[in-house]
Amino acid sequence: MSTSRRTGAAARPHGTISGPVLQEMKRNQERIAALTAYDASFAHLFDAAGVDVLLVGDSLGMAVQGHPNTLPVDMDAMVYHCRAVRRGSHRALLVGDLPFGSYPGPAEAYRNGARLMAEGGMAMVKLEGAGPVLDSIRYLSERGIPVCAHLGLTPQSVHAFGGFKVQGVRAESAQRLRDAAQDVAAAGATLLVLECVPGKLAREITASVPIPTIGIGAGPDCDGQILVCYDMLGVTAGRRPKFSKDFLAGKDSIADAVAGYVDAVKRGQFPAAAHTF
Ligand code: KIV
Repeated sequence: MSTSRRTGAAARPHGTISGPVLQEMKRNQERIAALTAYDASFAHLFDAAGVDVLLVGDSLGMAVQGHPNTLPVDMDAMVYHCRAVRRGSHRALLVGDLPFGSYPGPAEAYRNGARLMAEGGMAMVKLEGAGPVLDSIRYLSERGIPVCAHLGLTPQSVHAFGGFKVQGVRAESAQRLRDAAQDVAAAGATLLVLECVPGKLAREITASVPIPTIGIGAGPDCDGQILVCYDMLGVTAGRRPKFSKDFLAGKDSIADAVAGYVDAVKRGQFPAAAHTF
């Protein structure tokens, strides 16, 4: 892991975060701290603590709505939560998830991506996968909708994967992910989430793509880190994922917990080996 990265806390206390700012942070080796957010109150708190990217993730289907996976989330729910997060936040880059079934082709991806931006107030949209969605990534990014790609364990494919399983462990699947990362960047994605892939593979991909990578269960060497906020606050029911950490444990307030998370990410202290595959 690079220890020479800058903490950035002093370097960037004010000013809104945009795609180009994230690009500059990658260039400057300044780690990006990201969290999911689903409502205005938490968005305000995360924003004030210096979280750089707030993702209104379709994980809200599990974290907020109580479903066993993200598949039941629809566009109306996404727009509702995006608008709430928008009202609570002033500084962070806001990314909204295109939910399952909302981007079967470029035209639908554009229509729904535009809703997340125009109605939901997002500055970027996220979609999962590579091959069949490359046309949509290209179509959106050429028309003013910045795209965050998402590779590795893409939860909308949970049934195809046969469960929430680490991806890119075998050589062929690792090579597919390396190729997919190049493909989404070439198609115009400006940010890339890597979920549940071995740390070594995430490090290689991060070094080889021109766009910032944000890891979740992808080791310490991505350009940034993201966690589901309820995992990070230890309120998720049931077993917490191996890659997550309860930052509220031992702290007096949620604000302290979030500040601790931002600091640990910026200093490269999270994730540790215990959180890495
Ligand atoms: O929906 C979500 O919250 C996500 C993150 C886990 C990256 O996609």
